[in-house]
Amino acid sequence: MNGRMVITIDGPAGAGKSSVARGLAQRLGFEFLDTGAMYRCVALAGKRAGVDWSDPRQLERVARAIRLDCRGDVILLDGEDVSREIRSPEVTSLVVHAAGNREIREILVAMQRRLAGGRDMVSEGRDQGTIVFPEARCKIFLTASPIERARRRWREVSARGETTTLEEVLEQQNLRDAQDADRALAPLRPAADAVEVCSDGLTADEVLRTIETIVSDRRHGQ
Ligand code: DC
Repeated sequence: MNGRMVITIDGPAGAGKSSVARGLAQRLGFEFLDTGAMYRCVALAGKRAGVDWSDPRQLERVARAIRLDCRGDVILLDGEDVSREIRSPEVTSLVVHAAGNREIREILVAMQRRLAGGRDMVSEGRDQGTIVFPEARCKIFLTASPIERARRRWREVSARGETTTLEEVLEQQNLRDAQDADRALAPLRPAADAVEVCSDGLTADEVLRTIETIVSDRRHGQ
C-alpha cells in the first residue's frame, strides 16, 4: 500500500464543508479539492458558450472540450481564473444542469480520481465518500440544520455585497437540497462508513478540531 490518504468531506450546501476542508488540508499539509467548483465551471462554460439548456448534449460537448485546473482555492477554466465568477447566483442556479448529467459526472469523477492519484488530499463535495473514493480511509459527513446553514450563507453573501434576504437564501437552499437529495444520479447521502458531524452551535474552529480528532483516530487505525 502506498502512503497516500484521501479524506472525504460530503454534506449539504452551507454546512461549512469548504472552510473545514481547506483548514484541514492546511493543517495536515494535504491538497484540497473543491469538487463543487468543478460542476460550477462546467455550468459557467455552458453559459458562456450559449448552450441550449434543454439539450443536455450541448453541455456535454462543452464539458468534454474545456480544461480545468484545480489548485486549492483557485480554479482555472481554460487558463482563466474563474474562482469568483463561478459563485454568482446565475451560475449557482445553472449548476443543476451539470450536476444532474450522467456523462458530465463521469468526466468529473474521472478527473477527481486522476487529481488524487498518489497524493494526500482532502476532497469535498456530495459523492466523494460514496462514489468517487469509496475506499477512502476517512469519510466525514458534515451537516447542520437548514436554518443555521441559511444564516451562514446569508452572512457570506451579504459580506460580498449582494442584497438578499435570509428568507430568499433559505428558499433557494431548500430547492437545492431537494435537487441534491432526490436526483437519480449520485444523490446526497452519507457513506455507510462515514462519521457524521453536525456543526450546529459550533464555531468553524470547533468543527475543525472535532474533525481533526476523527481523522487522527482513523489515521492510526482506530
Ligand atoms: O458545493 P457547491 O455549492 O459549490 O456545489 C455546487 C453544485 O454541485 C451543487 O448543486 C451540488 C453539486 N455537486 C455535486 O453534485 N457533486 C459534487 N461532488 C459536488 C457538488
